Amino acid sequence: MKGLWQVLPMYPLFCAIFFIFLYSQPCASTSKNLSCNSNDLRALEDFSNGLDSRIDGWKFHDALAANCCSWPGVRCALFSVFSSSFSINSTDPSLRVVSLDLASTGLEGLLWNSLLGLDQLSFLNLSHNSLRGTVPPELFHLRRLEVLDLKSNNFTGELDQGISNLTSLSYIDVSFNRFTGFIPDSFHGLQRLESFSAESNCLEGRLPNSLSSCSMLSLLNLRNNSLDGNIDLNFASLVQLVVLNLGSNRFSGHIPKSLSSCRALQVLNLASNNLHGKIPKSFRNLQALSYLSVSKNSLSNVSVALQTLQECQNLTVLILTRNFYGEELPNNGIQGFHSLQALVVADCPLTGSIPSWLANIKELSLLDLSWNHLTGGIPLCIRSLDYLFYLDLSNNSLTGEIPMSLTKLKTLNSDSLSHNGSSSHGIPFFSWKNPTRLLWYKQYINFPPTVDLSNNMMDGTIWKEIGNLRLLQVLDLSKNNFTGSIPDELSGLRNLETLDLSFNGLSGTIPASLVNLTFLSSFNVAHNHLQGQIPKGGQFSTFSSSSFEGNPGLCGEFFLVCYSTSKPPEEEENDREESNVVLEGLPLAMGFISGLLLIVILVILPLLKQG
Ligand SMILES: *[C@@H]1O[C@H](CO)[C@@H](O)[C@H](O)[C@H]1NC(C)=O
Ligand SMILES: *[C@@H]1O[C@H](CO)[C@@H](O)[C@H](O)[C@H]1NC(C)=O
Ligand SMILES: *[C@@H]1O[C@H](CO)[C@@H](O)[C@H](O)[C@H]1NC(C)=O
Ligand SMILES: *[C@@H]1O[C@H](CO)[C@@H](O)[C@H](O)[C@H]1NC(C)=O
Ligand SMILES: *[C@@H]1O[C@H](CO)[C@@H](O)[C@H](O)[C@H]1NC(C)=O
Ligand SMILES: *[C@@H]1O[C@H](CO)[C@@H](O)[C@H](O)[C@H]1NC(C)=O
Ligand SMILES: *[C@@H]1O[C@H](CO)[C@@H](O)[C@H](O)[C@H]1NC(C)=O
Ligand SMILES: *[C@@H]1O[C@H](CO)[C@@H](O)[C@H](O)[C@H]1NC(C)=O
Ligand SMILES: *[C@@H]1O[C@H](CO)[C@@H](O)[C@H](O)[C@H]1NC(C)=O
Ligand SMILES: *[C@@H]1O[C@H](CO)[C@@H](O)[C@H](O)[C@H]1NC(C)=O
Ligand SMILES: *[C@@H]1O[C@H](CO)[C@@H](O)[C@H](O)[C@H]1NC(C)=O
Ligand SMILES: *[C@@H]1O[C@H](CO)[C@@H](O)[C@H](O)[C@H]1NC(C)=O
Repeated sequence: MKGLWQVLPMYPLFCAIFFIFLYSQPCASTSKNLSCNSNDLRALEDFSNGLDSRIDGWKFHDALAANCCSWPGVRCALFSVFSSSFSINSTDPSLRVVSLDLASTGLEGLLWNSLLGLDQLSFLNLSHNSLRGTVPPELFHLRRLEVLDLKSNNFTGELDQGISNLTSLSYIDVSFNRFTGFIPDSFHGLQRLESFSAESNCLEGRLPNSLSSCSMLSLLNLRNNSLDGNIDLNFASLVQLVVLNLGSNRFSGHIPKSLSSCRALQVLNLASNNLHGKIPKSFRNLQALSYLSVSKNSLSNVSVALQTLQECQNLTVLILTRNFYGEELPNNGIQGFHSLQALVVADCPLTGSIPSWLANIKELSLLDLSWNHLTGGIPLCIRSLDYLFYLDLSNNSLTGEIPMSLTKLKTLNSDSLSHNGSSSHGIPFFSWKNPTRLLWYKQYINFPPTVDLSNNMMDGTIWKEIGNLRLLQVLDLSKNNFTGSIPDELSGLRNLETLDLSFNGLSGTIPASLVNLTFLSSFNVAHNHLQGQIPKGGQFSTFSSSSFEGNPGLCGEFFLVCYSTSKPPEEEENDREESNVVLEGLPLAMGFISGLLLIVILVILPLLKQG
């Protein structure tokens, strides 16, 4: 959300300074014939020579073009030797390289110590290339570095302790490399550090305590490494923290209470660790918190968790999956969540029933309580969830009918989502159920509109009004005890891609109108008591026999030829040929057999007698 863009408040300022220098440069060079500093030129040449690839537009051997300041990715500034800041009032007006941006330029090879000469460099972006090998320690002698972006390369080795020398550093990103070993405990001097990302490497060991002294830190992302131990930074001193992402590591112990002193915290991801204990009650103070995931840990007491977190007025996404083993989902004591849009409490497995306080979460758009042991029915009050477009209650022990109010859900009855949803702040959202095919979504709003009640003990009929939920892309009612027929009105679900009604007690025919569902790519009515003709045409020509098996009365396509006479007129033509073989062939065969008998009686028998 908006606060995220405040992560690097200094950065725009820094750019603005560049801007001024860029545009004063032509004027400066015509009057004073400025060229790039010869040491810098040599450093760039060494750097370029160390690579396997060439950098387009860098011309070392062309005397006229040797002003490296005009090369792609290079920015210079006039620099005073006496002043530590940019100045045009300088006694050595040579142009110095202050920024090198070669992100996504196809660089391959090793990074030699050659950048060492660029001692005025403050911005280095080498992200999204194929650089490999270790990062030379000399890089950490570039004391003026403010921004260091090495994301998405193939760097190996350990993160160097020399980082402690980079006292001007405000932004460092080494994510998506193959760094190993410990994160050096060398952050004491980095008083300006605002953003540190080392996601998706092979880092191990504990959180470096010295990070606690980076009081400007607003983003810390160490997701998807092998870090362990307690989460024991001194959060009381990290009051600027906006994003803390420690997911997919091996952290253990409790969630630290002191996190609640990070009043600016908007995004907290602790998913997939080995944390236990409760959600600290002090978390109610996290009024800026917008995204919280603690899924796949061993936390306990779902009541305390919900009671505490309902006080977080800005919480929009809450993911509690795989915790609270065997506890009961509380029905009382929860008044509602002010801003909550997505609630996922799956695979715990929780007992109890679907709580009525859900109806108080006015903004709720996505609800996933699947893979629990919930009993009872779906409460009628579900209707008041005007924004709900994704409902997954599958694999519980729910009973009763589908409440008619479910067919009145406002968003699913409309043509588009009324909510834009909240971004998950760069943390991928995924459908956790299908581990072989992880579906990642940038934000939950990209989930397909879904009603999944499969694998329960529900009964009654499939209301024809379900056909009003025209935004639906996935309707799964399989593995229940639904009876009656498949309503013709389901053809009103124009956006439907998946329809699963298998393993119920459905009877009657498959409505021919379903061939009009042009996006239907997955269809299953197996194991019911359906009969009659399988519809032809449309997407139905792509479904295999497994979609229909277990219905002895069905005919056509894969099964017995249909004897039924009640066929839609346009299909009669096609059917006639197949049917004719049997229906008209029968008298013919009868005639043939009786003819044969006649021959035996009249001709062969008398011959035998004679013999
Ligand atoms: C100006 O730059 C050109 C090319 O770099 C160089 O040959 C020439 O000597 C310079 N003139 C002065 C006055 O420095
Ligand atoms: C500019 O340079 C002159 C002469 O070296 C010096 O007296 C003056 O203080 C400088 N001004 C600034 C703003 O640095
Ligand atoms: C580095 O370059 C990449 C690709 O252009 C960009 O996405 C990223 O924001 C840049 N890093 C910084 C710190 O500006
Ligand atoms: C990193 O190295 C691996 C193995 O050497 C290679 O398969 C992969 O393509 C490299 N990735 C990049 C971004 O260069
Ligand atoms: C810090 O930089 C200096 C030179 O700039 C170097 O001698 C020293 O070894 C560096 N410190 C570390 C820990 O690398
Ligand atoms: C986690 O990091 C590993 C490399 O350490 C990478 O191969 C993998 O794709 C990452 N997984 C995710 C989900 O980001
Ligand atoms: C909560 O969110 C609103 C809207 O995004 C924002 O204006 C407000 O500042 C946030 N509250 C806190 C405490 O951050
Ligand atoms: C949860 O915590 C509350 C208050 O600490 C306690 O009364 C309750 O028994 C706990 N419930 C479970 C299931 O541990
Ligand atoms: C139902 O949930 C249980 C866990 O509660 C899980 O083990 C099982 O695989 C799930 N079954 C299906 C069909 O998804
Ligand atoms: C929702 O998204 C649309 C298009 O993406 C945009 O025009 C609109 O301003 C957004 N509305 C809100 C409330 O963010
Ligand atoms: C389905 O309903 C029938 C009739 O009410 C009942 O006899 C049967 O046990 C139910 N089956 C399941 C699996 O609930
Ligand atoms: C398919 O839709 C068209 C147009 O709405 C309608 O005329 C036709 O009868 C439908 N087909 C079937 C088999 O219901």
